[in-house]
Amino acid sequence: MLPAQADEPVPLKIGFLGSYSGGAAAFGQETDTAIKVWMQQHGDVVAGRKIVFLRRDTGGQANVARQEAAELVSRDKVEMIAGIALTPEAFAVATVSTPAHVPVLIVNAATTSILDKAPYMARFGFTTGQEVAPFGTWAFKHGYKKVYAIYTDYGPGLEAGRVFKRTFTAAGGEIVGEVKPPFTTPDYSPYVQRAKDAHPQAIFIFAPAAGHPEAFLKAYKDSGLTEDKVQILATGDLTDENQFAQLGDASIGMITVFNYSDAHNSALNKEFVKAFIAAAPTPGMRPEFTAVSAYDVIHAIYNLVEAQHGKLDPDKTIALLKGMHFESPRGPIAIDQHRDIVENIYIRKVEKIDGKLQNTEIDTIPMVNDLGEQVK
Ligand code: PHB
Repeated sequence: MLPAQADEPVPLKIGFLGSYSGGAAAFGQETDTAIKVWMQQHGDVVAGRKIVFLRRDTGGQANVARQEAAELVSRDKVEMIAGIALTPEAFAVATVSTPAHVPVLIVNAATTSILDKAPYMARFGFTTGQEVAPFGTWAFKHGYKKVYAIYTDYGPGLEAGRVFKRTFTAAGGEIVGEVKPPFTTPDYSPYVQRAKDAHPQAIFIFAPAAGHPEAFLKAYKDSGLTEDKVQILATGDLTDENQFAQLGDASIGMITVFNYSDAHNSALNKEFVKAFIAAAPTPGMRPEFTAVSAYDVIHAIYNLVEAQHGKLDPDKTIALLKGMHFESPRGPIAIDQHRDIVENIYIRKVEKIDGKLQNTEIDTIPMVNDLGEQVK
């Protein structure tokens, strides 16, 4: 290979583990579009390095994610890894990142414990505990005394269920029943029927964005339930902006808790949404939580490359990540000493405005950490 010219930017290879096929394929399109938008706005050269993403499709499978991460590190010599949609993938990639000392910037894998044994990982999405802790308290304060809980039987669901039960009952609420559907999208009818039979004022539900929201809402509608009889209190995965086309007007009135709405009222978000819609590969596609997280991950990467003048050291990268903060389209964000995200958590309600369904923010709990505690 010819040596690079002095004035030619030296490529900086970053592995991107995306979910481009399988049940979580929508995430791949979202994150790619967000990266495209960032690069349109900021170029692809930072501190003399040309940023090159090597995209790999994990299909949402943990074993594939581990294999791809290992090859990116040993064969392609990437200096960093970004991406990851699902919790089991993040645990698998940690087994590569830890011994190889390769920093991994996680876009979306929401189980708090992922970072415990992964000193080279940092998270830019959210944890389910982070959202649900303030939600349990909020729900009781807003008149919900008896709630039935439905949460998916894997990492982020178990955490959501545990934390909701803790904060809701600590506030004075009663859990009148609970059920844990499997990760593979189930028929929700039997679960909704059990909830209905328990006569709650509300159903609390966590389910991963891929596949579940539509299945749940169909069962809820078919059971004859409506928001004035049994309110849905969900994590925002159920009403992410790309679900609305499938959910339709049945989603109006759902109350959710999350870190991002494309209706968030800030100048930066308006600019992001506009650029995203213009860059999206399919008409009607809107930015959702994985898009905004990917946009922030690439923002962080540019900060890291700039701060190290184009020469990356993994330990320096991790040290720089701790305490990094900037404004995101979702609001202010920071990475704390545990390499986890601190951000505003919003309570939202689904509304139809000018013929378009959206998550309208109705309350803000500022700067919450991964454990669900407000830090300032
Ligand atoms: C996760 O696997 O951590 C996960 C996936 C999809 C979501 C939320 C969390 O919507």
